[in-house]
Amino acid sequence: MEESFVTHAKEVLAKDTSVVPEFWQTKYRNEASKNWDKFYNRNTTNFFKDRHWTDREFEELRAGHAFSESKPVLLEIGCGVGNFVWPIIERNPDIFVYACDFSPRAVGFVQANENYTESRCRAFVCDITKDRLADTIPPRSVDIVSAIFVFSALPPEKQADAVSNIVEILKPGGRILFRDYGIYDLAQLRFKSGHKLEDNLYVRQDGTLSYYFSTDRLRELFVQHGGLAELENDYVVKKLVNAKLNIDSDRIFAQAKFQAPIDSGDIEAAMSGAVLDKQPGDSMNAE
Ligand SMILES: C[S@@+](CC[C@H](N)C(=O)[O-])C[C@H]1O[C@@H](n2cnc3c(N)ncnc32)[C@H](O)[C@@H]1O
Repeated sequence: MEESFVTHAKEVLAKDTSVVPEFWQTKYRNEASKNWDKFYNRNTTNFFKDRHWTDREFEELRAGHAFSESKPVLLEIGCGVGNFVWPIIERNPDIFVYACDFSPRAVGFVQANENYTESRCRAFVCDITKDRLADTIPPRSVDIVSAIFVFSALPPEKQADAVSNIVEILKPGGRILFRDYGIYDLAQLRFKSGHKLEDNLYVRQDGTLSYYFSTDRLRELFVQHGGLAELENDYVVKKLVNAKLNIDSDRIFAQAKFQAPIDSGDIEAAMSGAVLDKQPGDSMNAE
């Protein structure tokens, strides 16, 4: 991000000094599931568009990538009505997708979709901050976890619990693909006074929360707390130019990839040829 933009954004945010009163703070933080369920009651399947860009941003989701060669298993957390899931299932014939959301109504829409078949997909209700994913999905069995605009809906004090929950079902070497709102995003700068719960956390008109991520916050959650390796962690900035008003404004997303460690047992298996193919030139392969 350009320095002058960051200075401007900090000035805008510094002007908003009031925070939502404690009673309402507690209500919004604890009633998130109810508010998202109402959101899907109002909007049904019509709010978000199918996310056809995901394989452009994440090579792991392209057919032909190493992950797609061996019947990969993906978990989409906060799946909503499946806008991320359907294009992936269509493009990758061998993939199996678990999809969870804490809104029963959203999960019902996924299950009712014409593309839903239990041989390719399993949708279930789960609050990722408190319901153990490992009760539904075998531990260490998932190749890819996609977290697409879901962590921003979690209050910051519950984000680390969600990370621990995910880490438990991730395979050694499995990856988390993350995309969400970035700090200083246009939507953050546009919140009027009266919506802020704490720094970078806001409540929308409909009672749903919106947290804006810095790359440092992501590192804290996934690397320091989750014990994962950081493969990518950066901002994606999309310039919007309103020529009529002569205003430049930025949509800012935080996009990252983290990987679970490959533990020593797996490395030994790999060295004996059980997991990975030996590479030409490996000393183990000299014969
Ligand atoms: C902005 S929508 C994103 C939907 C989907 N990932 C997509 O890309 O279209 C955020 C979703 O996260 C879900 N969500 C929020 N907090 C959650 C939680 N604690 N556990 C599970 N799902 C949650 C909401 O119900 C909502 O469907």
